[in-house]
Amino acid sequence: KFEGLAMTPPMGWNSWNTFETHIDEKLVKETADIMVASGMKDAGYTYIVLDDGWMTRERDIDGNLVPDPEKFPNGMKALIDYVHSKGLKFGLYNCAGTKTCAGYPGTRGYEYQDARFYASLGIDFLKYDWCNTEGITAKEAYTTMSNALKKAGKPIVFSLCEWGDNDPWEWAEPVGNLWRISGDIYPCFDCEYKHPENWSSWGFMKIVEMRKGIRKYSGPDHWNDFDMLEVGNGMTAAEDRSHFTMWSLMASPLIAGNDFRSMSEETLSILTNKDMIAINQDKLGIQGFKYSAEDGIEVWVKPLSDGDWAVTFLNRSDAEKKINFDWAKHIIKDDLSGLTADFSNIAYTIKNIWKNKKASTTKKAFKDKIASHDVVALRLTKKK
Ligand code: DGJ
Repeated sequence: KFEGLAMTPPMGWNSWNTFETHIDEKLVKETADIMVASGMKDAGYTYIVLDDGWMTRERDIDGNLVPDPEKFPNGMKALIDYVHSKGLKFGLYNCAGTKTCAGYPGTRGYEYQDARFYASLGIDFLKYDWCNTEGITAKEAYTTMSNALKKAGKPIVFSLCEWGDNDPWEWAEPVGNLWRISGDIYPCFDCEYKHPENWSSWGFMKIVEMRKGIRKYSGPDHWNDFDMLEVGNGMTAAEDRSHFTMWSLMASPLIAGNDFRSMSEETLSILTNKDMIAINQDKLGIQGFKYSAEDGIEVWVKPLSDGDWAVTFLNRSDAEKKINFDWAKHIIKDDLSGLTADFSNIAYTIKNIWKNKKASTTKKAFKDKIASHDVVALRLTKKK
């Protein structure tokens, strides 16, 4: 892979969660424009990624992929140039199999040719899916595409999407910059949505808890990818806040999946919360973990640079709950990084992130009410 392209979790937008294959030039341009005008770009969102559905149903006579001329009448290159002219980056999608999941031409057998095509277009990001892959192994197929991109020479972030079925965390660090760890996300708190075709999509808390023991594999330039965001796609504001908070604490890529053209102020304010994004983008790149669970309230934490900690209370229950957290009784230790927050000994100042105000310090117990499926997210800094 190209090293060093994703030292913090990639941030951007992907077409799939809202538009599936119903994508076109106008959508991309409007999305890019809003990314800049809304402040999303300033908040750190960079990549505009077209998922499945950008090609014609067949390769051309020379075996080249063809961007659909009806969806992209001015050609893909002009569109990419437009996105670049806004100071943004551009990504495309394909699949390791013979066809993509939506039935468009897959890359199997065309890896080097397709890589040259992407390089000639000047793309910055490639998401590479895993449908129709009978008879091939994931490690080999993703390694071949990674090598092909390298050979073509244009630095491209390589995003693996085999859903965690082949333990990519075990082998993909030299192959890609991020890898999906689950099947598709669904805009719900912790449901399982069973598709009629007999496969499932997952509420965001289901994805957070789907894989045990993989946090040690995630870090700068090799991220566990918890899937694209569903913020603004129909959950309650509390659930959207919890979702965005968990993706930040898990150091997951932050790839928005909503329609920017109809985005509410509330959705925008969640997606652009600077303090939360700073937790996600922290340079140590440590994936957070669950510290405790009691009476429906879970405490999730993430060690941050300069000795700071993110501490989050998440209400998993269906009822409002009270928090009464006596810091003095807690020493939070991360066995992975060796970092420790000894609240019994050291005082921290507290910023309540979603309320955007300073709470008191860890010398006093933290007391608050927390609505069902909502979150109270704190950033703790050692008192000077
Ligand atoms: C399956 C992936 O998990 C989704 O994110 C999306 O890329 C679709 N395939 C596209 O067909």
